[in-house]
Amino acid sequence: MLTVSRHVAFISCEQKQSNEESPVIDRRNVLLGLGGLYSAAATLGKQNMEANGAPVQPPKWSKCHTAFDGATQEQVNCCPPYSTAKVVDFVPPPSHEPLRVRQPAHKLEAEYVEKFKEGIARMKALPADDPWNFMQQATIHYTYCNGAYDQVGFNEEVLLQVHGSWLFLPWHRYYLYFYERIIGRLIGDPTFALPFWNWDTQEGMRIPKIYLDTSSPLYNDLRNKSHYTALFDYKFAFGDPNPSPPQEEEVITHNLHILHKMFEESEKSPSLFMVKPVVAGEAVPSNASGSLENLHNDVHMWTGPSKSPYHDMGNFYTAAHDIMFFGHHANVDKMWDIYNSSRGHTPEFKQDDWLEASFVFYDENRQVVKCKVCLFFP
Ligand code: C2O
Repeated sequence: MLTVSRHVAFISCEQKQSNEESPVIDRRNVLLGLGGLYSAAATLGKQNMEANGAPVQPPKWSKCHTAFDGATQEQVNCCPPYSTAKVVDFVPPPSHEPLRVRQPAHKLEAEYVEKFKEGIARMKALPADDPWNFMQQATIHYTYCNGAYDQVGFNEEVLLQVHGSWLFLPWHRYYLYFYERIIGRLIGDPTFALPFWNWDTQEGMRIPKIYLDTSSPLYNDLRNKSHYTALFDYKFAFGDPNPSPPQEEEVITHNLHILHKMFEESEKSPSLFMVKPVVAGEAVPSNASGSLENLHNDVHMWTGPSKSPYHDMGNFYTAAHDIMFFGHHANVDKMWDIYNSSRGHTPEFKQDDWLEASFVFYDENRQVVKCKVCLFFP
């Protein structure tokens, strides 16, 4: 079972009144790369008391300012060029639209790889301020996690942060959803689907070759080169040597054991798998992430360079500059799908604070759309 068809089911959310004026940032809460390196000032107190249950809202684009790279301690500019664009509610695609089937990256046929490369090459060739441009798409990731937005409405600024909480999986699902459709539009293929790097299976525990061809637009030189052909050990920490050939079998078994345990232990507890709630006005706890997100952090750390500032894959600020990010996250999304189906396709959380949380993206029709979590659940 290596081919997963990604059939994102959408429904319309009930219209609810919510506070449209409330998103969120805490510039004191700074992320230093990944892997649990969340350095955060305490975020208790007044602002938390005000966070009495309103879903996190998308940022006001017109209020974008510099963000912060926790690893270099530098201010970075990542504001989108389309800050005055009109935002409309996202409407799910019609059901007769062709199904896009995501395939494992290491099994892609040559023709498909060419198609993917062509799409990425076209994204990279767009004018720098085009919202579909490769770097513009990458900046979307760090506006949502490095503090480019704050929103008034709470007495103190609160970070808009889509990692470390129940927003992690839905936000990244939408991000990939539009990214994939933009590529499809650029190459004129309405069935185009992103490949996934299935590091959760034995065959996928090495970097898929499509990312390693140095002459390809899928290549990125800012990776840990000593891992190019190595087996990924989930227990990896910076500085660890690669498993030797005689150790490999044991590492594979142990990796699979970790996965099994993760699904088994969290089956009844979405907050183990997907972490805790975060509502408008509340900062993400400094050390929180669910078991899937934790494991996902290890993949980022293992792929990126082992030294600070960990650019690209090992740092939120730059992670989406590497196309492997999207293969990695397509796999994370697949794992959420597996988890969700094992629980009978029901929403993991019933609270409106989750289901009504929303984000904005630039879609494949060059329209800015506001997307709610609840659309994923039929
Ligand atoms: Cu937004 Cu893999 O992180």
